[in-house]
Amino acid sequence: MTSYSSPVTGYKKIAVIGANGMLASMLCDSAPESVTLYRFDLPELDITDGEQVSKTLTAVNPDVVINCAAFTQVDACETQRETAFQVNGEGPGHLATVARKIGAVLVHISTDFVFSGAGTIPYVEDDITEPISAYGESKLQGEQAILASGLSDYYIVRTSWLYGPNGSNFVETIIRLANEREELGIVVDQIGTPTYTADLANAIWTLVNTVTNNSSPVTAPYGIYHYSNSGVCSWYEFACAIVEQLRNDNVPLKIKELKPITTAEYPLSAERPSYSVLSKEKYVQVTGEEVPDWRYSLGVYLQGRVMSNE
Ligand SMILES: NC(=O)c1ccc[n+]([C@@H]2O[C@H](COP(=O)([O-])OP(=O)(O)OC[C@H]3O[C@@H](n4cnc5c(N)ncnc54)[C@H](OP(=O)(O)O)[C@@H]3O)[C@@H](O)[C@H]2O)c1
Repeated sequence: MTSYSSPVTGYKKIAVIGANGMLASMLCDSAPESVTLYRFDLPELDITDGEQVSKTLTAVNPDVVINCAAFTQVDACETQRETAFQVNGEGPGHLATVARKIGAVLVHISTDFVFSGAGTIPYVEDDITEPISAYGESKLQGEQAILASGLSDYYIVRTSWLYGPNGSNFVETIIRLANEREELGIVVDQIGTPTYTADLANAIWTLVNTVTNNSSPVTAPYGIYHYSNSGVCSWYEFACAIVEQLRNDNVPLKIKELKPITTAEYPLSAERPSYSVLSKEKYVQVTGEEVPDWRYSLGVYLQGRVMSNE
């Protein structure tokens, strides 16, 4: 366990679970100074082990538990269903049970993959869930386990198409392939919204602040929230924007052509929702915060990346 001490203004203890992952590392890097972080990941804390979760969290006694731990390899979840359901389905239930026992708030990260993708307008929090993959099913089971635990003080934050430092993600894959190949086919018939981990981390801290900081002007009611960047695109448009922005920053690339292809032309083990845009209206109304546009945030990420490579 690594813990970071910080000044004691509005001192709160926050346990971050799955702390070595992409989102969690951004959360830890962007934590407000007024919190003390306790970071946990495998092998020292396995969320599938209820007893271990109970012992570890009871010892720390955090005010807030933020769960970023998950089995996130969507295609591998199809062949490793048991692991997917243990980690994504049962793990959040163990965390919720302990959070309830110790009086902590639980923040749990879920996914647009709980929806079927048959929709045509942005999904709101109480739309019907109907996952079409083992990953989506297991993540939905995780949400349901939290509800079934009897814990009332929780935020379930569903997000989509995450990218950022410290993780494998679509942006990094496109950058690598654009350096290796002259031509790339990218799926054009799946529509969603990318999310920069820095923006999601900010949204999570905003929600947490409303219930841990006595001087917060608003209190976000507990429950489910949707958060991604704003705007809509296909994976193809996302890839085009990545290449275009890198070219604008004079990054040398081998790629000459990005070709739009259909999902049927790029078969994968797990089915993906063809439309998974999330409505951020509830988050915006409750917090009064703006949600950055996906192209803007992509630019921020890529510029930071270029500068750190200079
Ligand atoms: N990435 C996306 O595009 C996306 C989209 C929508 C929602 N989400 C959700 O957002 C959250 C964060 O995603 P991410 O991409 O940042 O995840 P990530 O980088 O894959 O990080 C997940 C972390 O959880 C750890 N972990 C796995 N099994 C565990 C267990 N049994 N006990 C404790 N820790 C365990 C992983 O360790 P190992 O690496 O050692 O396995 C890893 O450090 C997840 O809940 C995910 O479902 C992600």
